[in-house]
Amino acid sequence: MPKRPLVVAHRGASDVSPEHTLAAYRRAVAAGADGLECDVRLTADGHLVCVHDRRIERTSNGRGVLSTMSLEELESFDWGSWKNPWADLDEDADLPDPDLRKVLTLDTLLSAVRDAGRPVELAIETKHPTRYAGLVERRLIEALDRYGWAHPNVGTESPVRVMSFSWLSLRRMRTMAPGLRTVLLMDRVPLRFRDGSLPTGVSYAGPSLEIVTAHPEYVDRAHKHGHQVHVWTVNADADVRHCRDISVDAIITDRPEAALKTLAEP
Ligand code: G3P
Ligand code: CA
Repeated sequence: MPKRPLVVAHRGASDVSPEHTLAAYRRAVAAGADGLECDVRLTADGHLVCVHDRRIERTSNGRGVLSTMSLEELESFDWGSWKNPWADLDEDADLPDPDLRKVLTLDTLLSAVRDAGRPVELAIETKHPTRYAGLVERRLIEALDRYGWAHPNVGTESPVRVMSFSWLSLRRMRTMAPGLRTVLLMDRVPLRFRDGSLPTGVSYAGPSLEIVTAHPEYVDRAHKHGHQVHVWTVNADADVRHCRDISVDAIITDRPEAALKTLAEP
């Protein structure tokens, strides 16, 4: 049987806890996930918080555009009571501690990874990096630096890999931290990289599930160029098996516990 892919919890265990909350990440670690995924956005007063959307309505009880709000304002909202339409959440049982319902700062998540009690990988995605002329990347590298995870030769000593759909964003971070592992997210593979190569400075390929479903041979091609392949977002059991069968290196999934169970089957 092929080696199983690493299981990376997309926005935490977002099938059973509100996405991007500390509760969701703790659940993922408790379920045995190999890694965690988060998106980062910049607040009006320069803090990085783990939130996917530009606006805050979907995942909190507040309203408005995140980048216009301070961290203090964001902390006044409840981020733990929304219901993922397809998840079976019991938020009162799941999130009795108000701290677990708060908007999650990147710093809190980095501490949780450091203190997890076992090695846990962290995949951090920069959202809309072009809007702030490099500020998101600078703040991110500064945050990683506080944990010793961005020094020039850090490589696999750092649990962190940074991801983006923007090559420019990855390049900026590589310039600041040359050893940092980078993942280029792709919802289509540009023609010149269909042979499995990647732009200079990119460590791993991050194709969508749709790409490796339509073109499973892409995985071998990337491997021949020495690149791991990390696929998103792999939820259905059949897709988890497909990724294992074509030797994908990591899957990013909303259902880490279920994916691990599927991968444990013969
Ligand atoms: O892991 C990559 C994946 O998260 C990209 O899509 O929209 O969920 O951030 P999105
Ligand atoms: Ca993401």
